[in-house]
Amino acid sequence: MTQTHTAATRTPSAAGRHEGASFPVRRPDFDFSKTPEYWFDNNPMLTHFMNGMAALFPDGEMFFVKSVRAVRDQIRDEALQKEISAFIGQEAMHSKAHLALDDYLHGKGVPIKEIEKIAVNLLGVIHRYGSKKLDLSVTCALEHFTATWAQQFLTHDATREVFNDPTMRKLWTWHAVEESEHKAVAYDTYKAIGGDYATRAAGMAIAMAGLTAALVYIEFKMVRHDRQLTNWRAWGQGLKHMFGLKGFFTPTIPKLFDYFRPGFHPNDHDVAEALAQRRSELAFDAPAGAVLH
Ligand SMILES: [Fe+2]
Ligand SMILES: [Fe+2]
Repeated sequence: MTQTHTAATRTPSAAGRHEGASFPVRRPDFDFSKTPEYWFDNNPMLTHFMNGMAALFPDGEMFFVKSVRAVRDQIRDEALQKEISAFIGQEAMHSKAHLALDDYLHGKGVPIKEIEKIAVNLLGVIHRYGSKKLDLSVTCALEHFTATWAQQFLTHDATREVFNDPTMRKLWTWHAVEESEHKAVAYDTYKAIGGDYATRAAGMAIAMAGLTAALVYIEFKMVRHDRQLTNWRAWGQGLKHMFGLKGFFTPTIPKLFDYFRPGFHPNDHDVAEALAQRRSELAFDAPAGAVLH
C-alpha cells in the first residue's frame, strides 16, 4: 500500500500516552491493488455510497481529534485523558487508511478529492462561526452516527457478506470495531467540560442535516460521474439493501434519534458481543492500551 501522500502530515502521531486506555491503537496495512471496481455486492450505487462516505473520514476525523484536543486541558480525570489519547490514536490511523483508499480511488479516476473537500467545507463553517463547545457537540453527534452504523455493520451479516473484497471487509470491520470501542470518549469529554443538553441537541441537528445532505449529494455526484444514473436495477437493489425492511439503515434510524433523549449515553447501546466476535475474527484480541501493527 502506498502512503506517500499527505497522510503523514495530516494525521497526528498515534504513539505515546494511550497506554492504560480501555482499548488499543492498531496499525493495520491495507493493499487495495486487487479491490474490484464495484466491491459492494457488485453494485455501483452501494459501492459509490460507501466510497463517498469514506472520503468524508480523513478530514472529518481530524476535526473530531481537534475538537477533543481543544478542550483536553480542562480534563482532570487521568483515566479519561488516557482514553482521549487512544481515541486520537485510533482516529489518526483511520484517517491515514482512508487517505490511502482515496489515493487508490483517485488513481482509478473517481472524483474523490472533490468529495474530500466537502467535509473540510462543512466542518470549517461550524468551526468558524461556532465555539469549542459546539465543535465538540458536533463531534459527539457524528461519533454517534459512526458508532451506530459501526454497530449495525458488526451485526448485519447481509452487508458484510456481500463485501466482495477481503481488503474492504478488513478495512470496514477494523474501523467499525474501533468506532465501537471509542464511541463514548468524545461524549464523556463533552460532559466533563460541562456540556449542556441544548448545545448537544443542536450539534445533532446540525450533524443530521449536514450529513444527510452531504451523503445524498455525494451519491448522485459519484453515480453521475460513473454514468450509472439510469441503472434502475442497481438503484432498486441498493435502496432495498439500505432502506428495505431488513435493510442496513432501517433499524439504525430510531437509535440515531435516541441521542436526543436527555439521559442518553453512548454505552446505552450495547455492542459487546458482536464486538468480541468481530475482534477475534480479525485477530484483534490484544490487551487494551497496546499498539498493534
Ligand atoms: Fe474513525
Ligand atoms: Fe470515531
